[in-house]
Amino acid sequence: VRPSEGVTVSLASHLGDVYYDPYDFQIDADPYPVWRRMRDEAPLYYNEKHDFYALSRFEDVERALSEWGTFLSGRGTLLEIIKANVPIPPGNILFEDPPVHHAHRGVMARVFTPKKMNALESKVREFCGRSLDPFVGTAGFDFIGDLGTHMAMRTIGYLLGIPEEDQEAIRSLFDDNLRIEDPDNPRPPDIGIDGAFVDYIEWRAEHPSDDLMTELMNAEFEDDTGTVRTLTRDEVIAYINLLAGAGNETTARLVGWAGKLIGEHADQRRELAADRSLIPNAVEEVLRYEAPSPVQARYIERDVEQHGQTIPAGSVVLLLNGSANRDERRFPDPDRFDIHRSVGRHLGFGYGIHHCLGAALARLEGRVALDEVLQRFPDWEVDWDNAVQARTSTVRGWEKMPVRIG
Ligand code: HEM
Repeated sequence: VRPSEGVTVSLASHLGDVYYDPYDFQIDADPYPVWRRMRDEAPLYYNEKHDFYALSRFEDVERALSEWGTFLSGRGTLLEIIKANVPIPPGNILFEDPPVHHAHRGVMARVFTPKKMNALESKVREFCGRSLDPFVGTAGFDFIGDLGTHMAMRTIGYLLGIPEEDQEAIRSLFDDNLRIEDPDNPRPPDIGIDGAFVDYIEWRAEHPSDDLMTELMNAEFEDDTGTVRTLTRDEVIAYINLLAGAGNETTARLVGWAGKLIGEHADQRRELAADRSLIPNAVEEVLRYEAPSPVQARYIERDVEQHGQTIPAGSVVLLLNGSANRDERRFPDPDRFDIHRSVGRHLGFGYGIHHCLGAALARLEGRVALDEVLQRFPDWEVDWDNAVQARTSTVRGWEKMPVRIG
C-alpha cells in the first residue's frame, strides 16, 4: 500500500483495506458502503484478484468518460469482455472508438431521435395497460416479470418492426446473456452475430417497412474513410443486436428499482399518486439513486496518472458511475431517496460520446410505466419473500420485484 497525499491504493482484502469485487453478489446487493469507502480512502482503487483499477468519485468518472482518447471502449466495456479479448463485431457503437464510433453513431442518431421516441408515448401506454390490466382486483404483480420486461421488449420490438409473435423468441436470445454463473470465473457474454437475427434481418431486407430497421438499412453516411455508403449487413445486425441488448434489460431494471424505491417510501408514493406531474423527477431520482448500469469498463493503452499514482498501459479501469451518483462531493445527502431533489446532471446514462442513445426512450418508458401503475394501484408494498436479485456484473437490479397491492 503506497500512501500518497493521504490516499492509498488498496491492494487486497486481507490487508484490511477496502475491497470491491464486481462479481461478488453480496457486495452487489448493496455496493454503496464499499463505494463510499473507495471514494474516501482509495479514489484510485486496484483489485488484484481480477486485475483492474477503479475510479469512483463523480469528478473522476465524468472526466474519464469524457477522455475517450485515453479511456478506450474499442476492446469492449465489460471487464470480462476485455479480459477475454473477445473479437468485437463492427457496428456495435458501444464498443467503438472514434473515428469509427463517430461515423456509426451519426447514422444511428439520425434514425433514433428524441422526437421519434416521444411519439411512441401512446404505444408505450398501450403496452403497459395490456401488462397491468389483468392484475386489477388481484393480490399483486411483479414489476419486472409482469411489467418491465414486456414493456421494454414490446417497445423496442415495435420500433424495429419485429412482429409481436416473434418478440419473445428474440428476447430469449438475450435472456441470461449477461448473467454471471461463476463469480470466480466470469464468462463474457455472447456479443457475436446471432443466426436467428441474421435470418430475420435478411427477411426484413426483402420486406421493407416504415420501421427503424428499414431506415437503418437505407441510411447513407460518410464512413471513417470518407466514403459515402450504406451500412453493411453485418453492421446492421450488430446495431440491432446492440439496441435489443442495451434497450431491454436496463429498462426492465429501471422499472424494478422504481417499484422497490417507491414501494418503500409510502409518503412519497402518496404524493406521486396525488400529483402525477412529479413522476418525471421521481424517475430521474431513481436513475441517480440506483443506476441500472453502474459500471463502465475502459482499456488504457498508455500510462495514466490518477491521484498521484500511475495506472500502467494495458490496464482495465472501471468507471463507477453508480458510485459517482452517490458522491457527497456532488449530491447533498446522497443516500437519501427524494423525489423532490433537484437532481441536475447525473451519470446514470454515462457521459460524453457514448452517452446513452436511448436515454429519451428509457425516461419515457420509466415515466409511463410509473404513471400507468399509479393510476391503477396507488398503494403497494414489496413482497420481500419473493424478491430475487439479478446476477450480472453490469446491469444491476432485480430479477423479480413482486409487490402486494392493496
Ligand atoms: C449507452 C445506460 C436504455 C441504447 C449507454 C451507456 C449507459 C447506458 C450508462 C453508456 C455506456 C458507456 O459509456 O460505455 C442505460 C440505462 C437505460 C438505457 C440505465 C435504461 C434505464 C437504453 C435504451 C436504448 C439504449 C432503451 C435503446 C433502445 C444505448 C446505446 C448505447 C447506450 C445504443 C451506446 C451509445 C454509444 O456507445 O455511443 N446506455 N441505457 N439504452 N445505450 Fe443505454
